[in-house]
Amino acid sequence: MAPKLEIDRLSKVYGDHPDQALRLIGEGASPKDVFARTSQVVAVSDVSFAVDEGEIFTIMGLSGSGKSTLVRCINRIIEPSAGRIVIDDEDVLAMSRARLRELRRRKVAMVFQNFALLPHRTVLENVEFGLMIRGEDIAARRRRCDAALAQVGLSEWAARYPDNLSGGMKQRVGLARALASDPDVLLMDEPFSALDPLIRSELQLELLRLQRTIRKTIVFITHDFHEAVRLSDHLAVMREGSFVQVGSPHDIVLDPADDYVATFARDLDRSKLLTAGDVATRRIPIIAADVGPEAMREQVTRSGAPYAVLIDAAGRPSGYVSRDELGATLRRREVRSLPAATPLPDMYAALGANAPVAIVADDGTAIGAVDASDVIRRLSEPARAASASIGGVAGHSVRPS
Ligand SMILES: Nc1ncnc2c1ncn2[C@@H]1O[C@H](COP(=O)(O)OP(=O)(O)OP(=O)(O)O)[C@@H](O)[C@H]1O
Ligand SMILES: [Mg+2]
Repeated sequence: MAPKLEIDRLSKVYGDHPDQALRLIGEGASPKDVFARTSQVVAVSDVSFAVDEGEIFTIMGLSGSGKSTLVRCINRIIEPSAGRIVIDDEDVLAMSRARLRELRRRKVAMVFQNFALLPHRTVLENVEFGLMIRGEDIAARRRRCDAALAQVGLSEWAARYPDNLSGGMKQRVGLARALASDPDVLLMDEPFSALDPLIRSELQLELLRLQRTIRKTIVFITHDFHEAVRLSDHLAVMREGSFVQVGSPHDIVLDPADDYVATFARDLDRSKLLTAGDVATRRIPIIAADVGPEAMREQVTRSGAPYAVLIDAAGRPSGYVSRDELGATLRRREVRSLPAATPLPDMYAALGANAPVAIVADDGTAIGAVDASDVIRRLSEPARAASASIGGVAGHSVRPS
């Protein structure tokens, strides 16, 4: 399936000679160099990405990195200097004025940081505004607006004026206004940045809840890494006009491309993102249950681990043995199994002080094992080393040879 939205080598120069500026960039100059030499601002430089239908794609970066410029190029509120923008297989830069107007009224809606509400119109009139300009009849308009206000929980506030609303409620109106036109694509430029942390967090959850039913294609801008990680299916980290890294929040937190990204990732609560598969290792050996007591003793002793997980002929966990209990009669104990996708916080209950937990792939075969000490070690180690475990190749299960 083709992506809903595709951006290909997009650049934006503020200045009179964009071609000259982009030529310098092409020769390896940085936006800073170009500014020093030509006084032109290269705000977006050769950015490419694709967003699938129904996905939240976040662009995260510090102030001035080019986020607003980039997102405004998507519906050509700002004219790009170079590159291609494709929405639903249609070339946005080739659109006529009329077609572009259609795009903005029906297919792509924006939500702004400062809410951009009309102060002398009621909540309902604000939500209705876009539909009015596109000439929709009043009954259809009302129906859509009522539905949009209900979606954001503001039905009771329809007749109020923006001044009567808190910041969080104002942004709900902004969201309702965007949803009323039933667009496919939502462009959200730091929609929650002006809000208090608690309200902000509430609205993030609200957006995620809404998204489960509305399934819009969303490009979300933020300078807050936590927000990006919380909301995104995919996320891009932007710096001085370029993308430094694009990936899932999980991959970016666990394997930041450089120190710039690592700085954002460092203080994030990593336990929320790690899964059992990320923590699983072969430190605790996994041994075929039918090798016989001699071989079992030898393998466990050689590993140095306090225990070993046993697997049956199909590769499924069937028990564990402790090094302390490798006497003449081997004691086989029951082992707990957890799917590789289990979030780390959900594992804690299964982790005993002195027993391993087997981590299994979708088909039930063991891909590794952990105990409490593995989890603690994993949470305390620096972010960069984190992708080296076998979690990255989940599905490579261990089978008896
Ligand atoms: N109209 C303009 N003319 C000249 N330079 C501009 C213009 N608009 C933005 N810039 C410059 O382009 C660069 C990118 O700005 P942009 O607003 O896209 O960044 P941003 O990532 O959205 O920042 P913020 O987080 O502060 O909103 C900055 O250096 C900014 O000063
Ligand atoms: Mg901005």
